[in-house]
Amino acid sequence: MDIRTYNLCALMLVINEVSSQSVTVEVAQGDAVILPCSSSRYEKDVFWRYRDTKTVYEIIEGKKNFQDQDGEYRGRVKGFPSEFTKGNYSIRLSDVKLSDTGTYSCMIPDSRTVHVELKVKDESDSSHRTSPDNSGIMRKAGSTSSLVISVLLCIFSF
Ligand SMILES: *[C@@H]1O[C@H](CO)[C@@H](O)[C@H](O)[C@H]1NC(C)=O
Repeated sequence: MDIRTYNLCALMLVINEVSSQSVTVEVAQGDAVILPCSSSRYEKDVFWRYRDTKTVYEIIEGKKNFQDQDGEYRGRVKGFPSEFTKGNYSIRLSDVKLSDTGTYSCMIPDSRTVHVELKVKDESDSSHRTSPDNSGIMRKAGSTSSLVISVLLCIFSF
């Protein structure tokens, strides 16, 4: 494999690591949870969406903006403006409902989109009750399929 091919493989693997980040967060119904999203640099605009349609939270020109927020999320979502300059665009969703289950995307234009899969546990099912610290359980999932494709492409380019 020549050096150009090798560089291309390395680049593809890095892009994979950076662009297809995905995490799963678990929370008990009624609790609050942090949906994580961060960037290595300061971003002016960040858009949080639920199932790619409903607006959950927005940062426009560096300021939180609730203008287009979906009624479902009114009063239940909080960002951390003091963290914005550190590239931390995580949000806190409180009073979590079973209907909040699903994929949240944190879209950073011209940079990347972080997908957060929220799993809500029915609190009547006590065997699944999470610890009382409300922090939820976080697990990195990654996008396995695209990683496999990149690795296969690298192997076959030998
Ligand atoms: C982002 O800020 C929130 C709220 O202060 C905090 O819980 C979380 O750990 C921070 N994330 C990072 C990556 O610093």
